[in-house]
Amino acid sequence: MPDSAPGTETIEVIYTAEAIADRIAELATAIAGLELDRLLVVPILTGSFVFASDLLRGLHRAGLAPEVDFLSVSSYRDGTKSVGQVDIIRDLRLDVTDRNVLLIDDILDTGRTLAFAKDLIVARGAKRVVSCVLLDKKVRRSVAIEADYAAFDCPPYFVVGYGMDLASRFRELPFVGRVV
Ligand code: IMP
Ligand code: MG
Repeated sequence: MPDSAPGTETIEVIYTAEAIADRIAELATAIAGLELDRLLVVPILTGSFVFASDLLRGLHRAGLAPEVDFLSVSSYRDGTKSVGQVDIIRDLRLDVTDRNVLLIDDILDTGRTLAFAKDLIVARGAKRVVSCVLLDKKVRRSVAIEADYAAFDCPPYFVVGYGMDLASRFRELPFVGRVV
């Protein structure tokens, strides 16, 4: 189902806003079922900000009252390709020692970003680190890591919308799509 975004490109919808909302409610229920005490939710900025804000409200509806802190990392992409290194752009403000942490990211692609964030938080003494991603691009993994929860499988091409960008554009789209 093509949909026009402001600008000249056409965006082909892959996951609709409705499908995303339904899936988030399921994920929130599953995560609440883990009964993680003193939960700290850590969205990995920037691409996860829309997903994280909806998942957070889903967690509230599922009965949780987590704290939230943000981690911003750069995964050094050359256009649409990851080139390997991950650096901290903005570190957490809160101490994760002995805490349960829910890491949220938009896409699990090569795995470098999630592996970096998870290793960092484990090394700082977190009790348990659970990860939840919107999209899992399974075929592209170069680091051995899986998310504990993934909302959807991702087709093996570059996607935009619902927080995800191509050169800082398309983050505002309420669905996940592909530039065609
Ligand atoms: P990884 O470190 O290779 O797993 O890359 C993860 C990050 O790359 C995600 O958090 C996204 O920000 C970005 N990324 C990977 N694939 C896509 C895509 O198809 N669209 C937009 N961003 C992507
Ligand atoms: Mg990202």
